[in-house]
Amino acid sequence: MSKVTSSTLRQFKQEGHKFTALTAYDASFAAAFDEEGIDVLLVGDSLGMVLQGHDDTLPVTIEDIAYHTRCVRHGIKRTLLIADMPFMSYATTEQTMANAAILMQAGANMVKLEGGQWLLPSVQMLTERGIPVCAHLGLTPQSVNVFGGFKVQGRDEDNAKRILAEAKAIEAAGAQLLVLECIPAPLARTITQALTIPVIGIGAGADTDGQILVMHDVLGISSGYIPRFSKNYLKQTGEIRAAVRAYIDEVAKGEFPAPEHTFN
Ligand code: KIV
Repeated sequence: MSKVTSSTLRQFKQEGHKFTALTAYDASFAAAFDEEGIDVLLVGDSLGMVLQGHDDTLPVTIEDIAYHTRCVRHGIKRTLLIADMPFMSYATTEQTMANAAILMQAGANMVKLEGGQWLLPSVQMLTERGIPVCAHLGLTPQSVNVFGGFKVQGRDEDNAKRILAEAKAIEAAGAQLLVLECIPAPLARTITQALTIPVIGIGAGADTDGQILVMHDVLGISSGYIPRFSKNYLKQTGEIRAAVRAYIDEVAKGEFPAPEHTFN
């Protein structure tokens, strides 16, 4: 059982093997996800909503992410571990370097940052200093107040063109992975085909190289509402490990996301 690295994910992309990612926040769930074959785990700032009960991700701190990254690191053997940089922890390049170092020293293999053009110097600086970057475009939840709500992005031609251009620029700056959240499936397909680096989708259709979901949605325990693009796998399997295996299997076969989980 060899460890998943960014090279593994690139190979998956070249072979057309669709890979799976989940969020995780503690050692026990992370160990189960790792053992069942999830390729990538993200300590997402979604923890602000699903663990801490906030309405959005803005209150999450670097200490919160570092703590949960240490927890998840203790549970895993094979999966690639990404840690989210929370709101305002990468507003300047100096802050970015210092906070990314905290997350790498907590056990992350890679850090994830939300944003496009303005992030290019940070992506380049991090990569040059030995910190791999996963970028995040589309619906970037830390900008919920700028967007005026959690809304699908890239529906009009100008924004679609901008997101595609930013994806290419971020790859050129050195990012090794890209998350696309809540954009129309045809745009996600175009971006995935235009990039050499693997692209992971959430609410971005079936044609990205991999899929990511929030574990609470997969296990049907999100309080209130489950987003349209997500799926409760516990409902159809009745057991946590079986739910994870069903998710992996459906992604590999191209059955998830189905049209009802997709924006056009
Ligand atoms: O914070 C998070 O969990 C995320 C995923 C939804 C991609 O960013």
